[in-house]
Amino acid sequence: MKLGILVSALALCAGVASAAAEDVTIGMIEPMTGPSASTGKQAKAGAELYIALHGATVAGKTIKLEIKDDTGAADVTKRLAQELVANDHAAALIGFGLTPLALAAAPIATEAKVPEIVTSAATAVITEKSPFIVRTSFTLPQASAPMAEWAVKNGIKKVVTIVTDYGPGLDAEKWFGETFKKAGGEIVQAIRVPLKNPDFAPFIQRVADDKPDAVFVFVPSGFGAIFMKQFAERGLAEAGIKLIGTGDVTDDDQLADIGDPALGAVTAHHYSAAHDSPENKEFVAAFEKANGFRPNFMAVGAYDGMALVYHALEATKGATDGPALLAAMKGAKWTSPRGPVEIDPDTRDIVQNVYIRKVEKKDGQLFNVEFATVPMVKDPFKASKK
Ligand code: PHB
Repeated sequence: MKLGILVSALALCAGVASAAAEDVTIGMIEPMTGPSASTGKQAKAGAELYIALHGATVAGKTIKLEIKDDTGAADVTKRLAQELVANDHAAALIGFGLTPLALAAAPIATEAKVPEIVTSAATAVITEKSPFIVRTSFTLPQASAPMAEWAVKNGIKKVVTIVTDYGPGLDAEKWFGETFKKAGGEIVQAIRVPLKNPDFAPFIQRVADDKPDAVFVFVPSGFGAIFMKQFAERGLAEAGIKLIGTGDVTDDDQLADIGDPALGAVTAHHYSAAHDSPENKEFVAAFEKANGFRPNFMAVGAYDGMALVYHALEATKGATDGPALLAAMKGAKWTSPRGPVEIDPDTRDIVQNVYIRKVEKKDGQLFNVEFATVPMVKDPFKASKK
């Protein structure tokens, strides 16, 4: 009898132990505080919504999302990545709000053979820094080259570029500039503004003096409102200078804050909260209900990052070894709220539609309204090296 109790107690312990072993930790690292906190807020909400809508169980495993705040500091990202892999046995790392943060985790992903799913950062070269990096955000060349093509076809001949002076800004400057010049356009000035404590006003004054047809701008998500306010204050729109850019500057998270000065801005990007599809309508409604704010492209990047985790775990039937998960992620295809997407098996970058959009008012609210689609764009940086 006593033995019977002991045996069932042991069985119970084993049951508890094996139930615990069924948890799969996914380590999310994002700036939840600091100047890029809006990215962390959006990414966290996007990843959590995926789990809420699809259930926490996949292939017999329970997903445990561990969210860590790197404050936007690369040394913190690296330490958190190390801890998540070594102490929490994370099966995948996800997030990475800025390029330097994605790069800081790359050696950890390589060494631990754990997939690093970049859902936010967007400098083209990131995926080349570890064979374990897979991306569900976008690349700046992917958005900037289509913007240049549209500009030339729509009577814009002279452009000043203004970009934030680090990886993604330099990609935007290069890929907009080169594509624009190749198609017959002229870049009259290429301005770079520091990432830390940016004051765009003196730069914007220099733009006014050049009298271009348009200003092409890249600022990282979260910085659009500062730029747009200063652009409006200097009267550039009244002077007939158009605003074009990648969609980071008219970020859905900031459009309401920017207000009417955003009206008419034309940008190229992979996601708008106004994207007209049943998948997106469902996504936006559920997101707003859960969070009380509108999703932006950082939310969709993280939502799709979780979709990729689920897809991979289903493919491995719940096995969590990194190389198997990585293999399952390569070539994955699904319908995102942004439209059809796939992971290029060679570059591990996302292939997706790039939409040309204009800021318009719908029912009293500002939206990036899509009016043209460049279908299934691969990152041109990697394509150019072939
Ligand atoms: C980046 O640092 O890679 C980055 C951040 C915000 C963006 C785009 C790129 O909106």
